[in-house]
Amino acid sequence: MSAHADVPDGVARPGRIDRVLISATALEERVHGLAHEIARTYAVTSDGLIIVTVLSGSLVFLADLIRKLPLMLRIGLVTVSSYPGGTTRSAGAKLLTSSYPELQNRDVLLVDDILDTGGTLRLVQREIRAAVPRSLRTAVLLRKTGKAPPDVTVDFVGFDIEDVFVVGYGLDYDGLYRNLPHIAEWRPGNP
Ligand code: IMP
Ligand code: MG
Repeated sequence: MSAHADVPDGVARPGRIDRVLISATALEERVHGLAHEIARTYAVTSDGLIIVTVLSGSLVFLADLIRKLPLMLRIGLVTVSSYPGGTTRSAGAKLLTSSYPELQNRDVLLVDDILDTGGTLRLVQREIRAAVPRSLRTAVLLRKTGKAPPDVTVDFVGFDIEDVFVVGYGLDYDGLYRNLPHIAEWRPGNP
């Protein structure tokens, strides 16, 4: 029997959430700032921006970001598996599905929730570059300080955070906690 059998699936298990790292208000303000930076960068794009987003962790960030972007844009989706099931350790990124408009000679913005070891973004950036876009930039909400290798570059960063496992605002542990309105640290050891 699970140690949390009294808590239904999909509902936050408070015992495992250690502390709030980034409040809902701070997220809203920073996403607004990021949208400004991005809108300025693509202000002269005539044929519209293509945002390719990595499911599922970026869902909440993407939904908030695009509603603050006064640009013509289309959305493409990729699915990458890196944290199978109940683990906090990356098992190496693998591209599972991709569905996006023609990228050749277009301005592409890749959006992900978090830059950790860089395996996910390296993989997706390589896939997009193979389609020969006019430009490719990358935006992440979070970046774990000092972890990403130098060959994985990002152009827009919401927050630099310490190297802890975080959940909420789209990010999950074993599929849970995506619906938290803030970013919190998740600790495996707590009762
Ligand atoms: P990377 O490939 O190691 O850079 O990891 C990137 C992916 O792993 C992200 O897109 C997230 O989906 C997931 N990930 C990395 N760190 C965390 C975390 O602290 N919490 C939840 N998911 C994470
Ligand atoms: Mg992800």
